[in-house]
Amino acid sequence: MASPDQNPHVSSREYAVSLDAQDPLRHLRAEFLIPSRAQLKAKSLPEAASSDSSSHDASVYLCGNSLGLQPRLTSVRMQQYFSTWASQGVFGHFKPLNESPLPTWLDADIRAAEAIGPIVGAQVSEVAVMETLTANLHLLLSSFYKPDINHRHKIIIESQAFPSDHFAAESQILHHNLDPAASLVTIKPLSLADSTLQTDQILSVIDKHAATTALILLPGIQYYTGQLFDIPKITEYAHRHSIFIIWDLAHAVGNVPLKLHDWNVDAAVWCSYKYLNSGPGAAGGFFVHEKHSKVSTSADGKKTFNNRLSGWWGSDKSSRFAMDNRFVPIPGAAGFQLSNPSILDITSLTASLEVFEKAGGMEPLREKSLKITAYLENLLLSTDAYSQRIFEIITPKEKEQRGAQLSLKLQAGLLDVLMKELEERGVVVDERRPDVIRVAPAPLYNSFEDCWEFVKAFGRALEVALKAKRGEMKLEGTTELEMTS
Ligand SMILES: Cc1ncc(COP(=O)(O)O)c(C=O)c1O
Repeated sequence: MASPDQNPHVSSREYAVSLDAQDPLRHLRAEFLIPSRAQLKAKSLPEAASSDSSSHDASVYLCGNSLGLQPRLTSVRMQQYFSTWASQGVFGHFKPLNESPLPTWLDADIRAAEAIGPIVGAQVSEVAVMETLTANLHLLLSSFYKPDINHRHKIIIESQAFPSDHFAAESQILHHNLDPAASLVTIKPLSLADSTLQTDQILSVIDKHAATTALILLPGIQYYTGQLFDIPKITEYAHRHSIFIIWDLAHAVGNVPLKLHDWNVDAAVWCSYKYLNSGPGAAGGFFVHEKHSKVSTSADGKKTFNNRLSGWWGSDKSSRFAMDNRFVPIPGAAGFQLSNPSILDITSLTASLEVFEKAGGMEPLREKSLKITAYLENLLLSTDAYSQRIFEIITPKEKEQRGAQLSLKLQAGLLDVLMKELEERGVVVDERRPDVIRVAPAPLYNSFEDCWEFVKAFGRALEVALKAKRGEMKLEGTTELEMTS
């Protein structure tokens, strides 16, 4: 143990390294393929997927909010899936193989539900893995948005909702021959300077439209600001006004602990390619609280259930192949399934969820996430560029109001050069035009040293971007910026 006077300075690389050494989850980094800087620059496909996460050439990948990295286990499980298909053909649907960690394809959907249930705090029967976020959102809206123009017809969303959510809500309104101008309510931030939404503000919009609102659609974590909404409080408030609420958990799932069942959430949708690391466009999932997916049978055998756009995979498993055209919904979220699922997708997702099991679930991940994001924030706040207001952090400061991501808003005119310079330095973050970059240390694979390296590269890249901007401004005959970094 170092004595106090040997302690490295909090802004030094040594300090970051010492934090990594104390991180109980540090071994998980080796479970992932982290692209090297050379790989990111390469223009051709490498012969085999490989990376050496311990290599000095590893890139600084802080982009799990957009696309999570590939777990090493994914290609192992995929290969096992390919071997099953190659060696069994159609038998793969129902023939269990000794030594195989994979379920038969007929049981793959339930295996996926078992794996995702604990991540979102749901009973296994309340979740299903299929389709993509927007497709699932439409399916749930088709069941639970039943507008009545003389009574409840409005959908409340945020004004800066992810475009796909906005389009889904708007098109559902149109689908019911209603007018979005009258039926779509958007919650706007109170000021141009702050893009976040205060809980009280959301509640007051609910109050204002309570009598005419059929449904609320909000994000668990806002994609642009990284703000984590108070899901239990807002859900409870919606219910007080008898309003159904759906949560878009694209940026929350695998990022923060969720307790969808206990919070009494009505329904939720998510994708799995961000913090869940299942691969681009792989199957998303959804949650329907058990109270909304009950199937009751009357004395004459008639089934009563919430109607839905149905398919054969939502129908009772034992009679599914009877082909008698009688839909017998499976109680629970599985009853909302449509098609036989993509085993390719499910294999990829469940492989990555095995890594979450190795982590011990969401609680230890959140513990690390809080530390690593706070560390990143402190480093950023200590930079000259921050004190000179070249950027600001638009994500809430309060830890209970954010997940892994910090969104940095730059002065105008810096983004393009900055992103190019970061890429040059092997640093991967993403941008939201015109001026925001999103930086997300994913606790499964990012290190404190990654954050340290990012902040160093960010400072240098900003210097170049500022010089380029000054040059441009001079060319345009404007005065030179006084700022330096
Ligand atoms: C908040 C949010 N909602 C919806 C989507 C759309 O997801 P999908 O393309 O899987 O439908 C995304 C995609 O990034 C997202 O970030």
